[in-house]
Amino acid sequence: MTQVKVLFVCLGNICRSPLAEGIFRFKVRERGLSDFFKIDSCGTSDYHIGETPDSRSMANAKKNGVDYMHRGRQLKKADFYDFNYILPMDELNMRDVERLRPDDGTAEVIKMRDFDSDEVGSDVPDPYYGGENGFQLVFDILERSTENLLEELLEKHKLN
Ligand code: 4NP
Repeated sequence: MTQVKVLFVCLGNICRSPLAEGIFRFKVRERGLSDFFKIDSCGTSDYHIGETPDSRSMANAKKNGVDYMHRGRQLKKADFYDFNYILPMDELNMRDVERLRPDDGTAEVIKMRDFDSDEVGSDVPDPYYGGENGFQLVFDILERSTENLLEELLEKHKLN
C-alpha cells in the first residue's frame, strides 16, 4: 500500500512539530486512516535529540483531548527522499530546510500556516519562552492547519 508521508519540522522538535504530529495523527486515527499515512516530526537543530516533548505542550494538548509522545531527532538529507511533504513551522525553519535540501530531493516543502485559514502563510510562533497562553495559541493554530492539511491530502490522494 502506498502511504502519504508527512514530516513536521520546527527548531527544537520538542514544542511545535511534535504537537503538530500528535494532532495530525489523532485526526488520521479518528478517520480510521492510520495505515495510509506515515507521520513524523523533527528539528532543524540538534538541541533536544532523544528528548521527550515539552511537558507544558503535552499538558496543554491533553486538556484539549490530544495525547502524544515523541523522541526528538534532527532533520537529515534522507528525509527529503523518504517523505512526500515537509512542513516547517516558521520562516527560519523554512530557510534551514531549504539549505539542507538535496537538488534531487523529492519532498514538497510547504510552510505549515499555508494551510491555516487565519493569517495564512505566517509563522507558528515559538511558545518555548512564553506562558500558557502561547501553548493554547499554538494548539489552536495547529488544530486548524492540520485539519486543512488533512482535507487537502485526502482529496489529492483520493483517500475520501
Ligand atoms: P520548538 O521550540 O522549535 O517548537 O521545539 C523550541 C524549543 C527549544 C528551543 C527553541 C525552540 N531551544 O532553544 O532550546
